[in-house]
Amino acid sequence: MHGRRLATTEALIAVVSPESQGVLDTLESIAADRDIGLEAVDVGTDIDRVYDEDTATLGVTIGGDGTFFEGVKTFAPRGIPVLGVNTGTLSFLARVEPEDLDAALEETLSGRATVDNRQQVAVKTDGLEATGLNEVMVQHVPPQSPIDRKVTRLDVFANDEYVGEFEGTGLAVSTPTGSTGISLSANGPIHYPVNNQSIQLVPLHTHQIGVRPVVMAPSTEIRVYPVGPAILQVDGGRMYTTVAEDDEILITGAETPAHIVRTSYDDHFFTAITKKLGWDVRSEDGRPLRPDADRVRRTRFARRGRDAGSLSTSADVAHLLDEESFPPEHPIRRALEVAIEAAQSAGEPLRELHGRVESVTYKTDKTDIVTEADRQADRIITTTIATEFPDHGIFSEESGHRERSGPYTWVIDPLDGTGNFAHGNPNYAISIALAIDDTPVIGVVYVPETDELFAAVDGGEAWQNGNPLRTTSRERLDESMLLSGYDPDGSFLANFYQQTRGVRRLGSAALNLCYLASGSADAVWEYDTYPWDVAAGLVIARAAGSRVTDARGAPFAFDLETDTRKELLGSNGPLHPSLLSHLDSGVVNSASRQDG
Ligand code: IPD
Ligand code: CA
Ligand code: CA
Repeated sequence: MHGRRLATTEALIAVVSPESQGVLDTLESIAADRDIGLEAVDVGTDIDRVYDEDTATLGVTIGGDGTFFEGVKTFAPRGIPVLGVNTGTLSFLARVEPEDLDAALEETLSGRATVDNRQQVAVKTDGLEATGLNEVMVQHVPPQSPIDRKVTRLDVFANDEYVGEFEGTGLAVSTPTGSTGISLSANGPIHYPVNNQSIQLVPLHTHQIGVRPVVMAPSTEIRVYPVGPAILQVDGGRMYTTVAEDDEILITGAETPAHIVRTSYDDHFFTAITKKLGWDVRSEDGRPLRPDADRVRRTRFARRGRDAGSLSTSADVAHLLDEESFPPEHPIRRALEVAIEAAQSAGEPLRELHGRVESVTYKTDKTDIVTEADRQADRIITTTIATEFPDHGIFSEESGHRERSGPYTWVIDPLDGTGNFAHGNPNYAISIALAIDDTPVIGVVYVPETDELFAAVDGGEAWQNGNPLRTTSRERLDESMLLSGYDPDGSFLANFYQQTRGVRRLGSAALNLCYLASGSADAVWEYDTYPWDVAAGLVIARAAGSRVTDARGAPFAFDLETDTRKELLGSNGPLHPSLLSHLDSGVVNSASRQDG
């Protein structure tokens, strides 16, 4: 899947073009049937009156691409995802046809649609400050008389480095979404817009043969100084101004992306583009025409994932489960895929909120962001899982128990390492496990800031992205590195600090167990963990060869029915006897807990 899942929708706001009343009527009856609030506004109207930021809102545009652009302008700054319904004649962005509206909305409201974050472009000059989804163009002012000069000269800098003088019709700075047409006209590449964070500087009808489009990071500050007056247009003239000679135009990637909802009713990007460009080597439904091409594609995916450590769900699952024992419809394969998808989907809003935490100085605001982070991640994970497995139980730190009607229970910590998160420290993780009765059998731990995905299935190997994990084989305490969790009176540190190469406290129990599995630590100690802190990490650490016990050496007993806290000692195996003999009885869970 591409993009994160759109997990919850509590209300709809529709931006409607004047000719689209009929489709709005359809949307109103769909919303009424589903008992979901709908507010409709005309294109160009402010939505503040009808928008409540505490309600998970889906934006819908009904019209052509023009209405979609206006919708993005309204919804993107508020982080609202937008679904475009096309009532225009030719549309590249509003991709749901009115006859598919009911089904596409059903898919979206039941949590099966995804959200693409599209890079936008920002421009600032005297008299205009704007954000565009497609492009910013700087062009010559049309001459009064057709025989007058039609070219403009522009001096262009990238991050204060002089790019050169562009002489021609002008230039465009386009996003991956807006690049196709402009880029092709200048012999540039086609940008696959999904998860593509870049901007592209494109010369327009230049008189210099060697000038070519340049692809840049969105943080690049492009400064343009016209030699003579110029016209500046955003998204095909939706916003524009004239710029005087030598005025500065600053163009860069916008900070806020557009959140575009994709359903299975959209044309895939390559289906749409190849139709336009006539590369037609695929059938109507976008599949390869050559019968064995699908198989070749799957094998290549798996190999590429292994070589490059790619995070594609299919590649990760391919490492963890063999096709013969776990065919596509096997419940464990499906559960693992969904766990990975849910973890990666929840990672995205956490990354966004973490960035905001880092820049917040007031504690109360930080608390709000952290609570919001817990809540959003939990909602995405539990909705994704509940949609796929309605009869499974759910046991999440944030939303408590949901009863199961069979042996399966999901054990979830949507944000492990809250203290770190609140301080802008990157050591936090999403932890998702599936237990059969009282035994965790699937473990997935995802680290949003580093894009590391740790996963294992009971009885198999543990993997981190494309790499198999194995614990260390150190036998001597004085050569070992330990990780400690909450250690209320510091006795674990006191007992082991001098005896070892070090004791570290990372602040995330789930990550501690993954680092034990990967060999970057030889042992971990947790004074009092909850089941959700360790369920996924246990599967991963055990699959990598760890031994996990209580403080007396009895196998760690995972207990799902109660939420009592337990101590946990995990090691590479050979170190376990020395660790147990050094563990002072004073560190065993007896003190009352003060903080995490
Ligand atoms: C905490 C962290 C911490 C551990 C605590 C947990 P939270 O979880 O995993 O490292 O020592 O026992 O409660 O509150 O950040 O989800
Ligand atoms: Ca936790
Ligand atoms: Ca937590």
